[in-house]
Amino acid sequence: MLRSCTPVILHTTPHWEGERRRGHRSQPGGWGRGAAECSPTPSGQPQHWVVGQGHTSPPQKNNGGGLTPWHGAGCSAQQCSRSLGPNTGLDACRGVAQPSSPLPKKTQHHPFQAPAMWLYLLLVVLAWALGWLVRDRRTLPSVKDKHVFITGCDSGFGNLLARRLAQRGFRVLAACLTPQGADGLQRGCAGHLRTTLLDVTRSDSIRRAAEWVREEVGEKGLFGLVNNAGVANPIGPTEWMRIEDYQQVMAVNTFGAIEVTLQLLPLLKRARGRVVNTSSVLGRLSANGGGYCVSKYCIEAFSDSLRRDMYHFGVKVSIVEPGFFKTAVTNLESIEASLRQLWERLAPETRLSYGEEFFHKYLKVQRLIMNIICDADLGKVTRCMEHALGACHPRTRYSAGWDAKLLWLPASYLPACIVDFVLATILPKPAHHVR
Ligand SMILES: NC(=O)c1ccc[n+]([C@@H]2O[C@H](COP(=O)([O-])OP(=O)(O)OC[C@H]3O[C@@H](n4cnc5c(N)ncnc54)[C@H](OP(=O)(O)O)[C@@H]3O)[C@@H](O)[C@H]2O)c1
Repeated sequence: MLRSCTPVILHTTPHWEGERRRGHRSQPGGWGRGAAECSPTPSGQPQHWVVGQGHTSPPQKNNGGGLTPWHGAGCSAQQCSRSLGPNTGLDACRGVAQPSSPLPKKTQHHPFQAPAMWLYLLLVVLAWALGWLVRDRRTLPSVKDKHVFITGCDSGFGNLLARRLAQRGFRVLAACLTPQGADGLQRGCAGHLRTTLLDVTRSDSIRRAAEWVREEVGEKGLFGLVNNAGVANPIGPTEWMRIEDYQQVMAVNTFGAIEVTLQLLPLLKRARGRVVNTSSVLGRLSANGGGYCVSKYCIEAFSDSLRRDMYHFGVKVSIVEPGFFKTAVTNLESIEASLRQLWERLAPETRLSYGEEFFHKYLKVQRLIMNIICDADLGKVTRCMEHALGACHPRTRYSAGWDAKLLWLPASYLPACIVDFVLATILPKPAHHVR
């Protein structure tokens, strides 16, 4: 029983609001019960009822006692007990609040805390994931008459992909940089595979290759283009680079891929084909200096705009972002040899600011990281490319390799200051560092 002269604040609204939303009638007893029946606020805002001095009322609207304004100052005992119910916890006539039972626990719950709600959400997520998996696994009924043109097939991913697609029945048009590469591929491959020579840094070479593709595919058009040719060196601290170092990497990785695509787009449109661009995790997170990261960021941007622009013509564009794999691009000897060249051509003043120790530590850290993360299973990358070419619904992006999935891509979403700190901690500090 509350017959106090001391004002007490009763928190009633969460209860009656929840009850009203669910369309329940309030249960007898309790503070919230009384409020639910008597006090739907016009604004629907939570109210604190002040009880004391012989009356109960919302503090801001107390116009003289009783349960005003909702109840009216002069309501009769009969009216009060009718509207409040027989066991409301309020001595309505005198306006004195009386607790008749403790606040029921469930009235404190937010609707999202209900287990049924979480179960429902879980089911929706599971159904969506299942639907996505089924859709993702659907493959084209036949690939026998489909031509795929791949650049950079001398070695690495391009070479393996050409052989695998030929085995699966695609008509593979493989472009190699060197005659030796083309001969080696042609000899070691069963299935429908034809080779040509292509240097993607030269426009005349690209035009010739495009003409050859046009003759090969005929009226059907080109079903697939895989921009795979790429180089990485030189990689190293940005200050050690010259503009030509950027230009030579971007000539292959970026402008080569763009020019080949532009030349072949009419044939791709005809076949409502697919473009698969080989980017890298370093196109998502720029972990080192040199043209490589810059070139792969460009490929990401080019692919995104191409996908959007070709959408209405039915040409699909996918980006493959491999982590680190054991190929010529990640060959430690060639990376170190190119880094040594950069070091030796540095101006004495710049070299002094880094110090000999920095150079040796840089090589050591690079060797350690590459030995840990480089994956020998190139199939992880080519399977992504095969999916992009053979699935009914190719994905926009594929990340290949455990390091891509667990390390590089999650890191690319972190705040820059965290990634900066980690890289600054791992890599050696120059001799004349100031922090
Ligand atoms: N390996 C990785 O860890 C990794 C990770 C992410 C992304 N990637 C990307 O994957 C793609 C394939 O690289 P990969 O790892 O398979 O290395 P790779 O074995 O060196 O393959 C690159 C291919 O491109 C060819 N090539 C180089 N310059 C060319 C040019 N100007 N014109 C035409 N072809 C040219 C190379 O020919 P030669 O063999 O005759 O030089 C080689 O066949 C590249 O775009 C690379 O950036 C690789």
